[in-house]
Amino acid sequence: MRKPMIAGNWKMHKTPAEALEFVNELKETIGRFEQVSRVVIPPYVALAGISPALRGSGIKVGAQDVHHAESGAYTGSVSAPMLKGMVDYVIIGHSETREYLGVTDELVNKKTKISLANGLKPIVAIGEKLDQNEAGRTEEVCRTQLETALQNITPEQMENIVIAYEPVWAIGTGKTATPEQAQSIIGGVIRPLIINLYGHDIAGDTIILYGGSMKPDNCAALMRQADIDGGLIGGASLKVDDFTSLVRIAAETKHLA
Ligand code: 13P
Repeated sequence: MRKPMIAGNWKMHKTPAEALEFVNELKETIGRFEQVSRVVIPPYVALAGISPALRGSGIKVGAQDVHHAESGAYTGSVSAPMLKGMVDYVIIGHSETREYLGVTDELVNKKTKISLANGLKPIVAIGEKLDQNEAGRTEEVCRTQLETALQNITPEQMENIVIAYEPVWAIGTGKTATPEQAQSIIGGVIRPLIINLYGHDIAGDTIILYGGSMKPDNCAALMRQADIDGGLIGGASLKVDDFTSLVRIAAETKHLA
């Protein structure tokens, strides 16, 4: 049985003080929902403040990216050893890092490996752009991104990886994939690919999230799909009420509440 997950990617929002205030409120509202993995993913500068504040709360912390090298002359970058002990998860391959920071499929693979080597759990994000979707290339794009991301990843390592399917055209646009569309890629392409690579047991335990304009009013329909285990949420994760609703809905739709 896969534990549902609600992960809030705050992107470039909230100062360290705002982040701390937010998680202190969140501890009150979602602290008791142990049936759901709850993850907040703030900007790097907020991590040192909120990480100790959340210790023991059951709410986990993630980083939004990580460099592919251990250390070196990489101005502006943050390495996996720096994040070790401070976060549990790290998003790798988010479409915004692919688009604005030049993150390629090969770099996604390197970042995944260095994260695992440092005890961080990668949330590997994949998804097609609008023109690729319209050209009927969704399956091919997702397959290539995922296969490259997982190159030389062992079965033991795969147990610590979360996958997020985020169609780029749905991110921040208010245009959510329909539950059937999301299920057809997550259940029809992504999980079968993991079955092929790692077998039924590991694929059956792999958490696969949907991301792209997920909100309290569309969350239940998405979460009712057999292969959608949760959400990677941008905009709606910035409000305590919405974050709390998403966690509650995740528990309810998976019959855990
Ligand atoms: P939105 O929920 O704002 O569409 O963002 C999704 C996302 O990119 C999460 O990583």
